[in-house]
Amino acid sequence: MSLKVHQFDAVIIGGGGAGLRASLQLAQAGVKVAVLSKVFPTRSHTVAAQGGIAAALGNVAEDKWLWHMYDTIKGSDFLGDQDAIEFMCKNAAKAIIELEHFGMPFDRLDNGKIFQRPFGGMTQNFGETPISRTCAVADRTGHAMLHTLYQRNIQANTQFFVEWFALDLIRDSEGDVLGVIALEIETGEVHIMQAKTTLLATGGAGRIFQASTNAFINTGDGLGMAARAGLPLQDMEFWQFHPTGVLHAGVLITEGVRGEGGYLVNSEGERFMERYAPNAKDLASRDVIARASATEIKEGRGVGKNKDAVYLKLDHLGEELINKRLPGIREIAKTFANVDPIKDPIPVVPTAHYMMGGIPTNLDGQVVINNEQVVNGLYAVGECACVSVHGANRLGSNSLLDLVVFGKAAGDKMVLEIAQQKTHKPLPSDVSDATLDRISRLNNQQNGENVAEVGDAMRKTMQTHCGVFRFPDLLASGVSAIGEVASRAQRLQIKDKSQVFNTARVEALELDNLLEVAVATMHAANARTESRGAHAREDFGERDDKKWLKHSLFTKQNNTLTYKPVRLKPLTVESFEPKKRVY
Ligand code: FUM
Repeated sequence: MSLKVHQFDAVIIGGGGAGLRASLQLAQAGVKVAVLSKVFPTRSHTVAAQGGIAAALGNVAEDKWLWHMYDTIKGSDFLGDQDAIEFMCKNAAKAIIELEHFGMPFDRLDNGKIFQRPFGGMTQNFGETPISRTCAVADRTGHAMLHTLYQRNIQANTQFFVEWFALDLIRDSEGDVLGVIALEIETGEVHIMQAKTTLLATGGAGRIFQASTNAFINTGDGLGMAARAGLPLQDMEFWQFHPTGVLHAGVLITEGVRGEGGYLVNSEGERFMERYAPNAKDLASRDVIARASATEIKEGRGVGKNKDAVYLKLDHLGEELINKRLPGIREIAKTFANVDPIKDPIPVVPTAHYMMGGIPTNLDGQVVINNEQVVNGLYAVGECACVSVHGANRLGSNSLLDLVVFGKAAGDKMVLEIAQQKTHKPLPSDVSDATLDRISRLNNQQNGENVAEVGDAMRKTMQTHCGVFRFPDLLASGVSAIGEVASRAQRLQIKDKSQVFNTARVEALELDNLLEVAVATMHAANARTESRGAHAREDFGERDDKKWLKHSLFTKQNNTLTYKPVRLKPLTVESFEPKKRVY
């Protein structure tokens, strides 16, 4: 079959914060750039980011990028690469000023400077006292950022392919990436997007879990494409559970609530974080708080009819502050928990929120394989990438920062790579065979598996076998259970092919991607016999730096796990040596 070929200098998959920051850099440099997005760009999941973006601006109290760097390394439970963390923290202030100049409407302090609020794990003077470091637009920071970047891209003439779904990477016999194969969702037509450089910015995959703060679109599409192209996925055992997802609904209640002075209580009315983190209390890092809440519930001190939640109390903050700084939270609490938080507490539970692992990259966003060898033509940025600045546990408000700092860095590097390539490399003769086979198998499957049922089985398996606390027997049985779900997915059948806009077909293809992520997660979690950051094992309760101060790399072929060292050497400053992590 001959498919329509579109040629670009750069193709970006994903129209969220990372993709749009990179595309802006490219478009402003005058290169021909296309952004493919399966939803309208301003509906990308960045829009749901609430509490803010971290940078040591020092607008509320004295601050330094080195303190931010220390907090991020400690938050990562020393698994983060210190060169990447230095790069991010050092460039943070510049990134915020740049966003401000793009028109992002940050909240202001009375003196006119950008407003900053406290967030978990962010401190002054290497852990001494909590600091206000998180810049915010009320509790809708991601929304403001995404719209700002989209408008700037329109101005810079970025070309958007809206409701196009990327299916597979194109790799030639030398391993170079030459673009992607994509489905135009409305027509069902498959196209070739040929590019000198390709950037994956597809966001997270939180939909592998039953209870998730993630949008339905977060299906790990970039990771699925990378895995199928033979590339490794790094540190997939590390998943962040946000302490405050609304009970049953999963919708996020920002950490900004605790930053503004809200706190968690159990059924006895006790502010229980005082016991688990005597200094930082409700502003300890997320893994610590999620485990504390889960323990309170497990030990019978949960709230509500089934005692399966804890309360987030914020009524004492007063109506005026809530309406000014947390208006979205009030709306969410009313809609999804049927409480008005100016009067009543919100029932919340730890909820899958963020994937610390991803496609391994260097500081320029270039995808790397063994020994940091670059995959020519391929870049990844944002939640789908692992650079790795978050290590085993991300600090809240470092994700928006990651998007813009590394989105810009990747854009800059792509501009240079494009300048060195006069023409496009020729496409392989079998460029689309594997992808078209996958689609035709889906179209022609008889007596196959139901997509929703297989998806439910995956989510149940992940929630049961790989949650906040991890148990050896459940991890081991989880490996075979998720393997069985993945083999069922080989026989997916689309029940209603007449459905408009190919939504059933896209859902099935998304499930392929989710399963690549779920399988990698389960294998990597089962293999890591220590507790570090968000990976908390019942049988190995301590961090084990001797054996496990290393990144995992999962490869799809034969479900192989290999490991590589953590980069402990920063760019210009002294290393922060691993030590016991207490809040
Ligand atoms: O709690 C929040 O507002 C989430 C922020 C983040 O994940 O960085």
